[in-house]
Amino acid sequence: MAVLGIETSCDETGVALYDPEHGIIAEALASQVALHAEHGGVVPEIASRDHVAKLAPMLRQVLAEAGLGWGDLELLAYTAGPGLVGALMVGGCVGAGAGLGARLPTLGIHHMEAHLLAPQMGTGGPAFPFVALLVSGGHTLLVDAAGVGRYRILGETLDDAAGEAFDKVARLLDLPYPGGPPIAALAELGEPDRFAFPRPLARSGDLNFSFSGLKTAVRLVVDRCVSEQSLDRERAHIAASFQAAAVDSLTGKVLAAIEQTGYGAVVMAGGVAANQALRQRLEEEAITAGFRIHYPPMALCTDNGAMVAYTGWRRRADAEPGLPEVIARPRWSLEELKPPGA
Ligand code: KG4
Ligand code: ZN
Repeated sequence: MAVLGIETSCDETGVALYDPEHGIIAEALASQVALHAEHGGVVPEIASRDHVAKLAPMLRQVLAEAGLGWGDLELLAYTAGPGLVGALMVGGCVGAGAGLGARLPTLGIHHMEAHLLAPQMGTGGPAFPFVALLVSGGHTLLVDAAGVGRYRILGETLDDAAGEAFDKVARLLDLPYPGGPPIAALAELGEPDRFAFPRPLARSGDLNFSFSGLKTAVRLVVDRCVSEQSLDRERAHIAASFQAAAVDSLTGKVLAAIEQTGYGAVVMAGGVAANQALRQRLEEEAITAGFRIHYPPMALCTDNGAMVAYTGWRRRADAEPGLPEVIARPRWSLEELKPPGA
């Protein structure tokens, strides 16, 4: 018996089948990055329309790949929030519609819980409790994760998300969207201490983040370099110095969260968790401070259907038979969740 997962909260259409015995047995992912790139960020209406165009063929493809029919499924899980409301509606309507047609229970999944649970898929994943650092284009959260549905937000960004900061700085440096990968590549060629960018809230005493001041500091340096005609020479140094400041900010709060909770493990997920400099730094700190660090493989860090299918499986106790409901919650705190079956 398998669980089908559907992800359409932002700019990736993801479909996957999870089976508790074999793990992910089929999956498909369609990225909209090329569609949004010329606009420098995600355009909600373009996102919704592309989900509409891609989702049904991808469902057929995944079922065919696994050699399964609708009747072989146990549950349909779709991302119900948080995210772009139009994009969420597409996954919700298709999920609930398929559930109605196939007489299957459906379940609306919290996107950030799916990111948080993804590293537990397969063997060797982290056991509860742990500190989760969820860093994507839309979210920057530090979570005390005591169990499935037992989450307390320790800190979050007061303004821009970490990924958003990479995207905005990339734009300042004429790099393509999404900005994380090209900034990371350019940073390899630069000196991280050439520019002393701020580490906002480093001494705030709480576990919140702020990235908009850092972005402004980068913009001022870029403007100066443009007027001095030195931007070409300094671009890699700016990228490296920005990345160092972002990594420092994230690492500092993770260490403080470990100290505050006394937990022995950190789980990192979301698109920014793909950043090698951040991974390397946290691994070094983990050895010194004596905690374990887990992150899912690259493909599971960014948005995908597999994490939704897996979360559906973990939450199967919440699935109620009967007329499926379409749930789309653009804003939805992790703290509102309850343990499965509660
Ligand atoms: O989780 P995700 O795929 O989508 C959501 O926002 O939900 O995260 C995308 C974000 C983008 O802002 C992108 O620039 C950032 O993750 N990102 C990175 C890297 N790869 C992706 N940021 C820093 N370094 C990377 N290697
Ligand atoms: Zn995400």
